[in-house]
Amino acid sequence: MRTLDPTREGAITGAPIRRTRRLRRSPAVRTFVRETRLQPADFIAPLFVIEGDDIRHEIPSMPGQFQLSLDRLEPELNALREARIPGVLLFGVPRHKDAIGSGAFAPDGIVQEAVRRIRLLAPGMLVITDVCACEYTDHGHCGVLVDGEVDNDQTLPLLARTAASHAGAGADIVAPSDMMDGRVAAIRRALDEAGHHATPIMSYAAKYASAYYGPFRDAAGSAPAFGDRRSHQMDPGNAREALREIAIDLDEGADLIIVKPALSYLDIIRAARDAFDIPITAYNVSGEYAMVKAAARMGWIDERRIVLETLLSMKRAGADRIITYHAKEAARWLLEDA
Ligand code: PBG
Ligand code: ZN
Repeated sequence: MRTLDPTREGAITGAPIRRTRRLRRSPAVRTFVRETRLQPADFIAPLFVIEGDDIRHEIPSMPGQFQLSLDRLEPELNALREARIPGVLLFGVPRHKDAIGSGAFAPDGIVQEAVRRIRLLAPGMLVITDVCACEYTDHGHCGVLVDGEVDNDQTLPLLARTAASHAGAGADIVAPSDMMDGRVAAIRRALDEAGHHATPIMSYAAKYASAYYGPFRDAAGSAPAFGDRRSHQMDPGNAREALREIAIDLDEGADLIIVKPALSYLDIIRAARDAFDIPITAYNVSGEYAMVKAAARMGWIDERRIVLETLLSMKRAGADRIITYHAKEAARWLLEDA
């Protein structure tokens, strides 16, 4: 005999019993059952600090993002604080560059000075510094060149020195983005030797060789003069390798890790979340930002909804925190909605 399935629409009366729409009926119900929520405390805002005076130069491919000289930092920091953004990630744009990127570890370098300034202007702000050489080398590569290739082991002491000088200036966290092998161990050792045992390392552990970094390289003036970064950044086809990269960085002493880019790599964020119990930060990179800004300017998308949905997807994928150029605007929208 044929039994009727009462959960099937039309089985008896035509009325379904399982109605998932019940929990979507009103804003109050939807909010009550929401699994993942965004808040301003999730965001870290990147800042480009440039040597010189009275500079507030908008980056053409990143509308709303500026290269700021130190004397123009204060209003930006105030705005971030008002938006409840807990931290900034600093990138330096130096006046002079050389073959080994010595500006990266100069005691009075642009990032070191910016850290000191932010400490004074915004004492509660978490100051994270990007540690790499590409903004400081005249060839734009992330380390020392030997026969036209980035030499891993000769680059390590320079990165270690850079991280220690950032910590010495007062950085809360150092974030190496170079993808050299052994850099986390080298940086940990240098930090400890300089007495910075308490300074955490947030490594860009899974960082892919991505076209999404294009606008950033304009902003930071860090495009390689020749070649690319495929000999050290990860191949976009590889997912399992990301877990290996993360495991190695943790073994070497990384305290937290970054997955980058975010949007095309949500599967990597999820895999990392499932495999490790450390805090995971996703980097919503410059090209992802530029695409949204461009489409919004054309009037083709609803920027506010697209940004909040995109950031939510990163958190839902497993990111605890998100480095994003949308930080200030997204936080303001969230505060308005709250
Ligand atoms: C420096 C660095 C880059 C980014 C962060 N740190 C550029 C690169 O690796 O070429 C990219 C950030 C972005 O695109 O927003 N190594
Ligand atoms: Zn670099």
